[in-house]
Amino acid sequence: MGKLHVMDHPLIQHKVSLMRDINTGTKEFRELLEEVAMLMAYEVTRDLPLKEVEVETPICKCKTKVISGKKLGVIPILRAGLGMVDGIVSLVPAAKVGHIGLYRDPKTMQPVEYYCKLPADAQDRELIVVDPMLATGGSASAAIGFLKQRGCKSIKLVCLIGVMEGISKVQHDHPDVDIYIAAVDEKLNDHCYIVPGLGDAGDRLFGTK
Ligand code: PRP
Ligand code: URA
Repeated sequence: MGKLHVMDHPLIQHKVSLMRDINTGTKEFRELLEEVAMLMAYEVTRDLPLKEVEVETPICKCKTKVISGKKLGVIPILRAGLGMVDGIVSLVPAAKVGHIGLYRDPKTMQPVEYYCKLPADAQDRELIVVDPMLATGGSASAAIGFLKQRGCKSIKLVCLIGVMEGISKVQHDHPDVDIYIAAVDEKLNDHCYIVPGLGDAGDRLFGTK
């Protein structure tokens, strides 16, 4: 089964608390999501392989390390995942970005795909799927499934807030995928919103409600 990494660094907890607050407006919410994604990216990329290279400092030549191996791809689930892209890409500028458009059917709560555009070499990249909310897990599981159908093998999932139901679904459907999350909340309500959560992440990010 994939590992669950709960990233409860004080800076992350503090910023997530600000994001939960109903009084936090769109501008601040957007900035906070980007900052948290950047902090999470630090840990998510911890196992990237390194190789030794030689550089010349102003003092002398030396052996030093740079990232090697497969390149990264960041895959936001539209819409709310978009808010996590810049924070990660600012740390890993060589990463390419693919988009998967999904929405939850409000009646069935099942994910419906409406867009998919991936880097041409996505199957050769280490992919980081990003979406702030992991509720029933339907969207994340479907997005990972789409990537696998297109030949992608190395996939991690990075979310801000989830519940055990969603975590368990992804772990069951995709036991090879590690999940990185900032907070595990109590439950889902009757509309499958996370409690206490932060409300509708897409609406808060883009000011659509
Ligand atoms: C939200 C969220 C996830 C999904 C999580 O997106 O950003 O993608 O719901 O719910 P699940 O785990 O039960 O699938 P939403 O469908 O509201 O679309 P939006 O980002 O366009 O608002
Ligand atoms: N999607 C959201 O944006 N928020 C939730 O709490 C659940 C799904």
